[in-house]
Amino acid sequence: MAVTLAYAIIFLLTLVWYRFVRRQRKKSQGKAQTELPPGSMGWPYIGETLQLYSQDPNVFFASRQKRYGEIFKTHILGCPSVMLASPEAARFVLVTKAHLFKPTYPSSKERLVGPAALFFHQGDYHSRLRKLVQASLSIEAMRNLVPDIDALAASTMDSWHGGHVVNTFHEMKKISFEVGILMIFGRLEARYREELKKNYFIVDKGYNSFPTNIPGTPYRKALQARKRLSKILSDIISERKEKKLLEKDLVGCLLNSKDENGEVLTDDQIADNIIGTLFAAQDTTASVMTWIVKYLHDNPKLLEAVKAEHKAIKRLIEESNHPLSWSHTRNMPITYKVILETLRMASIISFTFREAVADVEYKGYLIPKGWKVMPLFRNIHHNPEFFTDPQKFDPSRFEVAPKPNTFMPFGSGVHACPGNELAKLEMLIVTHHLVSNFRWEVVGSESGIQYGPFPVPVQGLPCRFWKESTT
Ligand code: HEM
Repeated sequence: MAVTLAYAIIFLLTLVWYRFVRRQRKKSQGKAQTELPPGSMGWPYIGETLQLYSQDPNVFFASRQKRYGEIFKTHILGCPSVMLASPEAARFVLVTKAHLFKPTYPSSKERLVGPAALFFHQGDYHSRLRKLVQASLSIEAMRNLVPDIDALAASTMDSWHGGHVVNTFHEMKKISFEVGILMIFGRLEARYREELKKNYFIVDKGYNSFPTNIPGTPYRKALQARKRLSKILSDIISERKEKKLLEKDLVGCLLNSKDENGEVLTDDQIADNIIGTLFAAQDTTASVMTWIVKYLHDNPKLLEAVKAEHKAIKRLIEESNHPLSWSHTRNMPITYKVILETLRMASIISFTFREAVADVEYKGYLIPKGWKVMPLFRNIHHNPEFFTDPQKFDPSRFEVAPKPNTFMPFGSGVHACPGNELAKLEMLIVTHHLVSNFRWEVVGSESGIQYGPFPVPVQGLPCRFWKESTT
């Protein structure tokens, strides 16, 4: 009896399994003739998430690229994904077929930044907002920002002097936050600035924490601070509306915009784009500036050449009795190459996320609708085929322009970074003050990278700084 029952169960299970396999096969045949890219989907449900997070993510990407080639599939954070490690594939997703791949972010993050921020969108709304952000970042606007960024960098860095330990990343965050405020609001009243700063930093902390919405967690605190930010921003917006100023800063551009039907943006749309731009501008620029301090410290010969470049500029400034200007910043060729090489080496945005909005075929492979798609910028920037000896910090490699689509620190296509020139301007000015006025040493022998969320040197690169003239 027991044996018969066991046979019956085995028979039933085999039948169920057979029908399941047939259905899956039919499903995939119905979908397309093309096959999925090579790669492993890992364990059921968790996929390869553990492998990705238990090691340096770049080792994860690089080992799979080596095994499977420029396009491979995986399963991470609950999502089937396709990773792309070649310039052509990145261009396909971000530029030529951008309409087939929409931006995608976890909803916990979207809630904190604000759902109307431009980088969550595609189509008409996205291009309208993008034009407004670009208008606030015109050459004229940036030229006018030079004296303010110059003064801001000088005053922040003055406090570094004296040999006490400075957390370089935290200090750079202070500078990039204030530059973001300048670009968004122009000169903002101190009381508003302080309130914005206090609440923004709580949101920033929660943004990078585990998103549990229960009392006391950083995520809950961030949601509450985000509400307060909306209130502060709505006060600033009302005041600006009353004054009817035609300012060219981001708030001015957003307030004065009308679409083809004469519709203005709502206060929520304006607030979400202000917070979004601050988010996009702050940690990114601060991380790269921290790497600049490290790379210059580690390359004394290069540092001498950069110092000489800025000594000459300082002489010009003293002779003309005019402060640092836009035209000075256009004449820093060595520093500019240092910035490009830092962007390549550090590749602080290692990859970006999109989601396929339809089944898409790429080089005979199927990228199924709904799958995440990740162009791997860092792998491209570190590929010896495009950058000889890629682990070497060598700004002179930028004497020759990189091959098309091989250098994308600011992304590419419709969502490429509109703030890239401002970020570079800020880095040029900060480097000018750093090398003209300071010598510095890195504290501790710990080397390595920490993710917060972008890669920065461990502990935010603790350093001691001394003003050169006083030592
Ligand atoms: C070194 C500093 C920076 C780096 C490395 C960087 C990098 C990037 C990258 C890679 C993207 C594209 C992301 C994607 O395609 O998914 C992007 C988008 C964006 N960045 Fe930056 N960024 C920097 C600084 C800034 C600054 C200073 C601002 C603002 C003034 C800014 C504003 C934005 C905005 C608004 C977007 C979204 C554009 C859109 O969706 O159309 N970024 N950034």
